Amino acid sequence: MDKLVIQGGIPLSGAVRVSGAKNAALPILCASILVPETLRVQNLPHLRDVTTMLTLLGQMGVEVSLDEKLGVSLDATRVEHRVAPYELVKTMRASILVLGPLVARFGEARVSLPGGCAIGQRPVDQHIKGLEALGAQIEIERGYIHARASRLKGARIEMDLVTVTGTENLMMAATLADGTTVIENAALEPEVADLANCLNAMGARVNGAGTDVITVHGVDRLYAADYRVMPDRIESGTFLAAAAATGGGVRLSGARADILGAVIAKLCEAGAEVEHGEDWVALQSRGKPVAVNARTAPYPAFPTDMQAQLMALNAVADGTSVITETIFENRFMHAQELKRLGAHIDVEGNIAVVQGVERLQGARVMATDLRASASLVIAGLVAEGETLVDRIYHLDRGYECIEEKLGQLGARIKRAN
Ligand code: EPU
Repeated sequence: MDKLVIQGGIPLSGAVRVSGAKNAALPILCASILVPETLRVQNLPHLRDVTTMLTLLGQMGVEVSLDEKLGVSLDATRVEHRVAPYELVKTMRASILVLGPLVARFGEARVSLPGGCAIGQRPVDQHIKGLEALGAQIEIERGYIHARASRLKGARIEMDLVTVTGTENLMMAATLADGTTVIENAALEPEVADLANCLNAMGARVNGAGTDVITVHGVDRLYAADYRVMPDRIESGTFLAAAAATGGGVRLSGARADILGAVIAKLCEAGAEVEHGEDWVALQSRGKPVAVNARTAPYPAFPTDMQAQLMALNAVADGTSVITETIFENRFMHAQELKRLGAHIDVEGNIAVVQGVERLQGARVMATDLRASASLVIAGLVAEGETLVDRIYHLDRGYECIEEKLGQLGARIKRAN
């Protein structure tokens, strides 16, 4: 099993390019199911989750090919197996995103019900309820969601809570429904808007994505398109937090400051200076960071996917901070590992109180999920001596070439197995 070995204590400095967004790429790949022609996707990040999604689509019958410019073309003219098997869904919950497109285009889907997850229970009741509102008949059989419909019918759907993939699944399903669908209490995340832009490039009629009311006028069919995935705001935020925590500076090319508002605000509050242009963001730290409180919530508030990385920064900041996690009920697993490096963190329910310490000391730590791994890498970059981060297969799900990119910034980091 691969591990990362980090010699800490070096402030990050230099420039890196941000990759395409994992959480936009995954639904966009699934959107290919909606069209009996080719969807070409550019700026796909090279990640394990993307490979898993391509494997799933390939198993279903989608023809996947890579072109010379590293674009991926997906041709879903024939999709004979409308199934997402347990073996793949258990490794990647985002597989649920094939459900809406399959029912919309083929009137049938069997998708393994995702089980529990390291960060929380993560039910999919809102996906199911929404598809039922669109007229699908859904049964849970032997651990699988079995959905059927002749043709979905537009409806008004009020989501009980804000769900990102739930909104995406229903938005995709509604593109081919008969009539108009209105999704209320929709997720505002930029990845939802990116998916909507891709769907519209395919001929769909989606309005309001990026707001909490999305209207989809169903069309009879969609068409071939060429779409470029947006930059990854969580990868961007992770590099910015790493630069701030190590007392360094970083310039991210291909990054968008407009979708990083809450993260940039927190890093500035922590004492860093941030500048940005249309497609770049630069951070320069001004000494030891100052502890900052944060409360995670749906976009545009501070993202749960940046909570662990901010905790690593707070671990070495001046002062005490309170971090409240409101999205997932078990997303503090990194706290225990950060403590192995010398951090002072008390967790009670969904609140973590972090007392900044003068220094962290390298140790062996173990990653439990993707963003927890990122926080351990940041802590390792700050810590004195050697940190060995184990189980980095989590990291490979969501960060493209992380050790090369951090190496470009001067970090002493290498992969070992
Ligand atoms: N929820 C329900 N019922 C549902 C759907 C969600 O109760 O039917 C609850 C969840 O249990 C959670 C909350 O609603 O408490 C929000 O979950 P959401 O559905 O928004 O999460 P998701 O769509 O499964 C996406 C990202 C996650 C990110 C969350 C929150 C993708 C592929 N995944 O997950 O990304 O943390 O939104 O922003 O888009 C990551 O990249 O590390 C990651 C976990």
